[in-house]
Amino acid sequence: MSREIDFQQQNLSQENMSRVHSMSAGKKYFIFTYGCQMNTHDSEKLAGMLEEMGYGAAAHKEEADLILLNTCCVREHAEIKVYGNLGALSQQKRQNPKLILGVCGCMMQQADVADAVVRRFPAVDLVFGTQNVHDFPTLLLGVLNGRQHQVEVSSRAQDEVVEHMPVRREISSHAWVTIMYGCNNFCSYCIVPYVRGRERSRAPEAILAEIHELEAQGVREITLLGQNVNSYGNDGGNLHFAQLLETIAQECDKIIRIRFMTSHPKDLSDELIDVMSRYEKICKQVHLPVQSGSDRILKEMNRRYDHQRYEQIVSALREKMPQVGLTTDVIVGFPGETEEDFEQTLELFRRVRFLSAYTFKYSRRTGTAAAEMAKQIPVEVKKERLARLNALQKEITQQVHQEMVGKVLRVLVAERNPRSAALMSGQADEGYRVTFQGGEELIGQIVNVRITAARQASLLGERI
Ligand code: SAH
Ligand code: SF4
Ligand code: F3S
Repeated sequence: MSREIDFQQQNLSQENMSRVHSMSAGKKYFIFTYGCQMNTHDSEKLAGMLEEMGYGAAAHKEEADLILLNTCCVREHAEIKVYGNLGALSQQKRQNPKLILGVCGCMMQQADVADAVVRRFPAVDLVFGTQNVHDFPTLLLGVLNGRQHQVEVSSRAQDEVVEHMPVRREISSHAWVTIMYGCNNFCSYCIVPYVRGRERSRAPEAILAEIHELEAQGVREITLLGQNVNSYGNDGGNLHFAQLLETIAQECDKIIRIRFMTSHPKDLSDELIDVMSRYEKICKQVHLPVQSGSDRILKEMNRRYDHQRYEQIVSALREKMPQVGLTTDVIVGFPGETEEDFEQTLELFRRVRFLSAYTFKYSRRTGTAAAEMAKQIPVEVKKERLARLNALQKEITQQVHQEMVGKVLRVLVAERNPRSAALMSGQADEGYRVTFQGGEELIGQIVNVRITAARQASLLGERI
């Protein structure tokens, strides 16, 4: 189990926050967040620290005194966007030399990339990695005191987690709750284990204390976060994921919905399926990345399951929860992927019929095993395969949506529909977006909606 560092008890960070506060009253910040929910949640912590240091949120980047880019490097495309934005922001800084520019996140956790950013973009004042989010106040103080280029990209002791950091959430009724950090799986294509470190599970007591605090603040829906939530507790500790989930469902009365992501198929247990089916408040939705339908490619990817095992899990989930909303991630054009391998992915998609899928072209990541593999696939082939897969999934999503017509879904009402004042929108247990006629007084409640029509991205219905 991880070793805890309490942010609130760290004298240095508290002192530095109040020093920054005395220099920053009325200043504004803006954060660009790229990548996954881990980064979204880290940005909430950065915003939380900034607000404690006297900064307010800027409505747009032009009025900000401080801009942070929280970066992602999972695919090349994500990095290109960051470099593009850094170019534009360097321009903004030429017009406003007092602007403080910071870059953090997964891209910066790679020392050579951090160096390159500092060299290529002299406008950047501070740089820190995913393991140094809590060092941000100290680095910012350094910049304010006139010390240029504050860089901190250290690899923390492998078992540390920082607790009790301030958090500023975008929506008041929903919260991300990290249950574990890092990843040990080393899928051969993936950079995440290199930039997020080894698996560290938070203590169950710390997780429960955080959720109770969120309940007191009015949060009703939580999403438990980890690169692979199913390996929660494998680094020691007395609860495994299914047990943690059950404890939260039992002990957190005011939470009416619990979601979690991401699940790695290799260790999704029968016990988890059982716990999910027994508690109404645990949403019947599973994001279960398959990555490929070819056993040969799955082996090369180091995923440690084959298509048969994957489909067994899907059957077990559907047996206990017939309406379960299944979504997935998939990569096309992994090194050595033949037309036949790719067709096996199409076949698996036809058999499993996901509600939706995040589809990606394989992207070569320096430092990963797959980057060194022979038979890298030409980009035109990847594009063509991606288009075929997307067309198939579009058809399947349409069919799955159509099959929901006549069924009753439990919808947590979130907001007035931006396109029509008489309509409300929300999310069903299984993950579908649902729109129906109703009033604002329903926001925050769970209502039953009978589905009357299907759209490409959502369902229409009437409240019953
Ligand atoms: N921890 C999660 C997902 C992490 S990254 C899991 O294990 O599934 C999110 C998705 O990005 C992955 O599921 C994968 O489909 C995709 N991805 C990761 N590395 C990639 C790469 N090098 N090229 C293309 N897609 C990649
Ligand atoms: Fe990457 Fe695999 Fe870890 Fe997911 S499980 S973060 S794909 S290495
Ligand atoms: Fe990207 Fe880092 Fe997430 S690389 S996908 S932001 S863990």
